Amino acid sequence: VAEILVGAGEAAYRVVVARGASRGLGARLREDAGASPVMVIADDTTAALLGAALAEAAGATLHRVADGEASKSFAELERACTAAAAAGLDRGSTIVAVGGGVVGGLAGTVAAVYMRGVRLVHVPTTLLAMVDSSIGGKAAVNLPQGKNLVGAFKPPAAVHVDPDLLLSLPPRQLRSGLAEVLKCSMIADEQLYGSLLANHQKLLDLEMDLLTDVVTTCCAIKAGVVTRDERETGERAILNYGHTFGHGLEAATGYATLTHGEAVAVGMAVAARIGVEVGVTPADVEARQDELLDAYGMARRAPGAAGVEDVLAAIGHDKKARGGSTPWVLLESVGRATPGHDVPGDVVRGAAAWALGA
Ligand SMILES: NC(=O)c1ccc[n+]([C@@H]2O[C@H](COP(=O)([O-])OP(=O)(O)OC[C@H]3O[C@@H](n4cnc5c(N)ncnc54)[C@H](O)[C@@H]3O)[C@@H](O)[C@H]2O)c1
Ligand SMILES: [Zn+2]
Repeated sequence: VAEILVGAGEAAYRVVVARGASRGLGARLREDAGASPVMVIADDTTAALLGAALAEAAGATLHRVADGEASKSFAELERACTAAAAAGLDRGSTIVAVGGGVVGGLAGTVAAVYMRGVRLVHVPTTLLAMVDSSIGGKAAVNLPQGKNLVGAFKPPAAVHVDPDLLLSLPPRQLRSGLAEVLKCSMIADEQLYGSLLANHQKLLDLEMDLLTDVVTTCCAIKAGVVTRDERETGERAILNYGHTFGHGLEAATGYATLTHGEAVAVGMAVAARIGVEVGVTPADVEARQDELLDAYGMARRAPGAAGVEDVLAAIGHDKKARGGSTPWVLLESVGRATPGHDVPGDVVRGAAAWALGA
């Protein structure tokens, strides 16, 4: 059992990573809750996987949403808060998120605003949620105008990570989460890079002890970064490696054709190419990243997925929102990335054309 502390002082919380960590959790949640009602939020798939049984064991209300990004909406935020009120949740109550990043984002936002804030516990069920979205305290829902526009910082009281839950995850979702894992190694941990490269087949085949070690390492990396920089004034930006272009590509493709991880993988390849071009990334570092992405079958380009100008416009939209030029996160070596690089527009356009061209 690995226990990772996130944050400092009173707001610090523990991420527990252990195979089987979700077993027996219901009874413990019930004990922790005392007399206050508990509400479990899950989507249809994660309710059947764990959420319904957990709610029953915890004596909690189960609030179900449909699978998919559409459930991270303002309408679902209202529906969940209304359900919380109807179930009699009070200031001492706990909201338990059982699911991927969608459920975590919705449940975190509910826990941030219902009665000006109640306890939140994350039980992540996707690889992305285990290593990324359940740690760091960012919670949000979407508006028609854009993703994550309404939300709050809502650090959980605890995160329970049970890697065995990944056994039922569809392969494409697993690979999507693995992109964040590969990212972690490139920005922060050369030893992890070596182990990911050597063990790629075993990890893709879900060798659970190995996968548990990798999940633990990635949780610790994210925990370290967000502990040192909770409000994203500096170091935390390195977690966005591969995401500048990745988010632009997702937006330009209407979040429909590529998973987040697939877009991030292309974004990592683009960032490395840009890094080499502007003299920040040594060529052999780009080659080693290529080798890693290839080992996991992650495409480094997305020919024809979107128009170059559409992706650049989507990246620029972000830039306008911040009122400056888009700062890029670039690799300096395997295991080290630095934020805040200004990149000339023609270099970005060239890399985008490479990624999207036939
Ligand atoms: N808060 C943050 O810091 C942060 C960081 C990264 C991403 N996110 C958000 O996370 C969201 C994406 O999350 P996601 O990739 O986990 O997607 P998701 O929550 O939509 O889950 C993907 C699909 O897998 C299913 N599923 C979940 N666990 C399963 C399991 N164990 N077995 C079988 N099926 C399972 C779900 O029902 C869903 O259909 C996005 O909205 C993104 O904005 C937030
Ligand atoms: Zn991501």
